[in-house]
Amino acid sequence: MCGIVGYLGPSNPVPLIIESLRCLEYRGYDSAGIALLDDAQQLHVVKSAGKLQNLVDRLAAEGNVAPRGDGSNAVTTLFSAPNTQAASTTNGHTHLGMGHIRWATHGAANDVNAHPHMGTERQIAVVHNGIIENYYTLRQQLQAEGRTPVSETDTECIVQLLESNWAAKGRLETGSLEAFRKTVIETLGQLQGAFALVIMHRQFPETLWVVRRQAPLVIGIKDITNHASNKPAFGGEFVVASDTVAVIPHTNRIVFLKDDEVAELSTAGLRLMTQDGTVITPVIETVDASPLQIDKKGFRHFMLKEIHEQPDVIRQSLSGRLQHPEDPIQLFGASVDITALKAVDRLVVIGCGTSLNAGLVGKYAIEDLVGIPVSVESAGEYRYRRPIITPNTLVVAISQSGETADTLEAVRQTAKLGAKVLTITNREDSSLARESDYVLPVRAGIEVSVCATKSFTAQVVVLTLLAIQLAEMHESTPTACLQALKTELVRLPALLDSYLASDALGKIQEVAKTFSGFPNMLFIARGMNYPVALEGALKLKEISYIHAEGYSGSELKHGPIAMLDNTMPVMSILTPGTVFDKMVSNCQEAAARDARMIAVSSVEPLAENVASLFEAIIPLPACDEVLSPMLTSVPLQLFAYYIAEHLGKDVDQPRNLAKSVTVE
Ligand code: G6P
Repeated sequence: MCGIVGYLGPSNPVPLIIESLRCLEYRGYDSAGIALLDDAQQLHVVKSAGKLQNLVDRLAAEGNVAPRGDGSNAVTTLFSAPNTQAASTTNGHTHLGMGHIRWATHGAANDVNAHPHMGTERQIAVVHNGIIENYYTLRQQLQAEGRTPVSETDTECIVQLLESNWAAKGRLETGSLEAFRKTVIETLGQLQGAFALVIMHRQFPETLWVVRRQAPLVIGIKDITNHASNKPAFGGEFVVASDTVAVIPHTNRIVFLKDDEVAELSTAGLRLMTQDGTVITPVIETVDASPLQIDKKGFRHFMLKEIHEQPDVIRQSLSGRLQHPEDPIQLFGASVDITALKAVDRLVVIGCGTSLNAGLVGKYAIEDLVGIPVSVESAGEYRYRRPIITPNTLVVAISQSGETADTLEAVRQTAKLGAKVLTITNREDSSLARESDYVLPVRAGIEVSVCATKSFTAQVVVLTLLAIQLAEMHESTPTACLQALKTELVRLPALLDSYLASDALGKIQEVAKTFSGFPNMLFIARGMNYPVALEGALKLKEISYIHAEGYSGSELKHGPIAMLDNTMPVMSILTPGTVFDKMVSNCQEAAARDARMIAVSSVEPLAENVASLFEAIIPLPACDEVLSPMLTSVPLQLFAYYIAEHLGKDVDQPRNLAKSVTVE
């Protein structure tokens, strides 16, 4: 969902910005661009539609951007430097620049719409993540003034408006830094919507402005000359980005901008302001994170690697939380006051996409073990409804990134009504985690593939642990049952390890190949595995572009059955438990309509009359029904993967998607 980067300091900004953008590629890959200021204080913008590599190739080929102080050096020289350190210039100049990768909202993914954008007078350059909701009105006003937009983007309005405000108030003549600061603040007041921005003005070659409103932005501070964190200003070198992962290779000292804060970064220091210009004290946090390892470890795609990491991810998720089946689950550290959780009598689970599906699995587990009602809400819908928060409602936000705009906003609304919020996330440093009462990290490690796999499994593990811990606190399920569940949970990683090393994978690959030519597919399951059917269909859609839908087996006859004939594959999940016989009946109903039946089944052996319904059966180890989604989801992930791979799709960066959706 667009990634932005800004740099101010003594190093060569080109490789640094490119490497930072590489860490943000998960946020979009429709286009990429970079803006720098040269010795003559001219702004230079190079941009290219498509993936970041296209920009890299263009920079290398054109070599027409020379950062300040580099004399005749072309960008080719700068870019070919092996790393930022080696590429540092020591001529005492301050360099500044910005970069962007785009997930298109307004206008096609082409060179013109790529960021950075400049105003008509080429005074100011801007990169933006978010959506300007009043862009159309602003665009008309600006056109009436004679400022002709060249792109279709909402972003261009921001930079045109900045130039317009700068010119209108005669500040062009006064030329003072303070005047431009006022222009920035005034312009922000005219923008509606969500935005994280980096702004550069050619008259101020030693200053960058960064702004946040409902879109993530962090400021990394390198080489601070004044280490006191409570001082309002200090000198330094700054790396700004949409995500800490792009900053961590350079520094672990970070200021997490809050909504409606503006930061002015210069060699003189960091000046943090509220949106009315009041100076506030920045809080510098030391973040404990290692640089992103972008390594496929011998796998063909990140998605396949991440699927294979799942046994270890489950181990990590359980570690320290489930010590021994006889001991109670300990999800929260000793310092966390969990008394409020004892009184919880209702849960509202909020999420989007795969996280929403994980939430649905959690609903089945929590209702079953704790006996309290759980409603699972799609964040984008929930935020525009009237939230019903009773005194003991616990809101559970689920988000891999912790930055999904809809989830964040839905949660903020419940918090305003007094709800306690528990966030289940892969990113402890995310906005969602920082705004919650309780945080449960899923510990999946960085997930590079846009298609979520291991983060889903880790979310389900944490939700299952939450269900067990709440059941222990509420004494709602016999201890022996909970202990049996915990015993099985502990053996789950080993079970999955041997599954991933078994010849079941060859079988999945073969079945995937057979069914890769069908344009549609249905996924059906019941009970705990109904959400897995939804997730299986979502995986297939996301990476193969085959139309797939998930249904409860019971819903099949209420409409979707009309679609069944011998051109429609139906993938069924068959696990032992309360709904097994019902699921068999639903499969029979589908087979009677000539559908092409496939099963994922942990029932061994399947009775002859059941087995004969299916053209192919993918085997799976058996486990307790409550835990089964952690296993059943894996062959469906692999099924989607092998189909997409067979069809030659871009598995890790599927078209139109982004891993973190920070706009509504
Ligand atoms: C995007 C991603 C999905 C993800 C969803 C929610 O749509 O492509 O994979 O499930 O956002 O993201 P979150 O970070 O909140 O889990």
